Amino acid sequence: MATPGLEQALTRPGLRPLPSAAAELLHDLDAPPRLGAHLRAVHDVAWSVTDRLGRRAPDLPFDTTAVLFGAATHDIGKVLHPEELSGPGHRHEAAGRDLLIRYGVPSYLARFAATHAAWESDEAGLEDLLVSLADKVWKGARVESLEARVAEHLGGAPWEAFLVLDDLVQDLAGGADERLAFQAAFPI
Ligand SMILES: [Fe+2]
Repeated sequence: MATPGLEQALTRPGLRPLPSAAAELLHDLDAPPRLGAHLRAVHDVAWSVTDRLGRRAPDLPFDTTAVLFGAATHDIGKVLHPEELSGPGHRHEAAGRDLLIRYGVPSYLARFAATHAAWESDEAGLEDLLVSLADKVWKGARVESLEARVAEHLGGAPWEAFLVLDDLVQDLAGGADERLAFQAAFPI
């Protein structure tokens, strides 16, 4: 069997398709298939998170299109730092934002590439936090400090916000094994 490539990573059924602008960019950059698959996994979770939160609280101040584009491109800097696809490192973050800007992406959409690991920063807003959350929950990881910051934005009684978010995250974490298998099927 031929090694699956980027096209398959972006089109194989099982996860929602990326926004077309993000998919085009990945093609233009000839991104590693594993990166395409990872971005689909995180985007899929971000889609579910924004859908569920948006239904529960339509007044929550986040732009779904921005969050989904952010999830779909957050690790794009790994095109330039592929060693960070399989190991730790933060060089892809600023590099990803700058790459997107060079491709004409407006900075309010490019920023997620730089902010997705910085949820403890005072500057992280709800949209940034939602991308960070999706980047953890796709693989079933729970990060208390991140979830607490998202819950703060949900309004209402803190215990209620915590329970709503806990329920949502638990539900989505249940699909982690399938997403991990999907991503692992594609080569770096
Ligand atoms: Fe990621």
